[in-house]
Amino acid sequence: MSERILVTGGAGFIGSFVCEELLKTGKEVVALDDLSVGKREYVPKGAEFAEGSIMDKILLDKLVSSCDKIYHLAVVALPISLKNPVAAHDVNATGTVNLLEAARKYGKGFVYVSSSEVYGNAKEENMKETHQLEPRTPYAASKLAGEVYALSYCRTFGLPVVVVRPFNSFGPHHREDSYSCVVTRFIKNVQQNKPIVIFGDGEQSRDYTYVKDTARGIVICGENAKLGDVVNIGYGKDITINEIARIIKSSIGVEAKITYANERPGDVRRLCADTSKARKLGFEPAYSFSTGLEEYLEWLKRY
Ligand SMILES: NC(=O)c1ccc[n+]([C@@H]2O[C@H](COP(=O)([O-])OP(=O)(O)OC[C@H]3O[C@@H](n4cnc5c(N)ncnc54)[C@H](O)[C@@H]3O)[C@@H](O)[C@H]2O)c1
Repeated sequence: MSERILVTGGAGFIGSFVCEELLKTGKEVVALDDLSVGKREYVPKGAEFAEGSIMDKILLDKLVSSCDKIYHLAVVALPISLKNPVAAHDVNATGTVNLLEAARKYGKGFVYVSSSEVYGNAKEENMKETHQLEPRTPYAASKLAGEVYALSYCRTFGLPVVVVRPFNSFGPHHREDSYSCVVTRFIKNVQQNKPIVIFGDGEQSRDYTYVKDTARGIVICGENAKLGDVVNIGYGKDITINEIARIIKSSIGVEAKITYANERPGDVRRLCADTSKARKLGFEPAYSFSTGLEEYLEWLKRY
């Protein structure tokens, strides 16, 4: 019988691709999402859908008891955490404990999808999993709280836990509102003949990974990582925001104006993953920034 996997945040950006990846490997998939951000149509065909919240303990009991393993991605995002830190804490920290409790009750495997944001500013060229943890935003703090709780359940109760720390991702299903990432925002601005707005000097850099690679990496870690381990998932090279703007303008073929605004609070200067641990587990990104962007632009045309 195939394994049955619960994916929280399964109608969201990365979660929907994690569902797709798990289906490809022959798993049964149940996507749980409250649709506060995610969209029903992003849940791939072949996956079951449960609409509801990770704050609903009765629902969690029912869903967790009937699955073999949990991939936990449901989240309140960084920009919301700046306006409403308590909402971020409730879902990202307390919601994670709710799920861990259900997992402990039924003895289920738990893959916690954390974030590179837990590192804060880079102190090393490429950030290893052992890099100092210095969250700069309430979002990052709540993600780290989830990690620490998950690992404590592994140490204290022997719960089979793996923690994955993805770096920035881009691609289809990304939200297109004011909370979207730079890649999605820049594409939208260029297509609408609006200027590209860069916060700060644009020389801040990120490790941008195409979402299908991120999702595949999460599943590889969920399948192969040692219990209690923490693994980065990223492309392994960083790219500056100025460079992203340049590539997007040339891929779309529009000469958009670039304007610079004040740096945002808590913005990290440089983030780049050391992915050697993930590579040892069999992860290799299949998309460069440019090939991922090409596929993303095709998807945007169709969607
Ligand atoms: N997007 C990135 O670049 C990135 C980078 C690093 C880590 N991550 C992590 O990956 C995970 C997924 O992020 P994403 O970018 O796909 O975010 P997303 O906002 O697209 O997806 C999160 C999903 O969770 C759902 N959700 C929110 N609150 C919920 C609740 N109480 N109960 C059930 N569902 C709820 C939302 O509707 C949404 O579909 C998160 O844990 C995030 O911290 C994302």
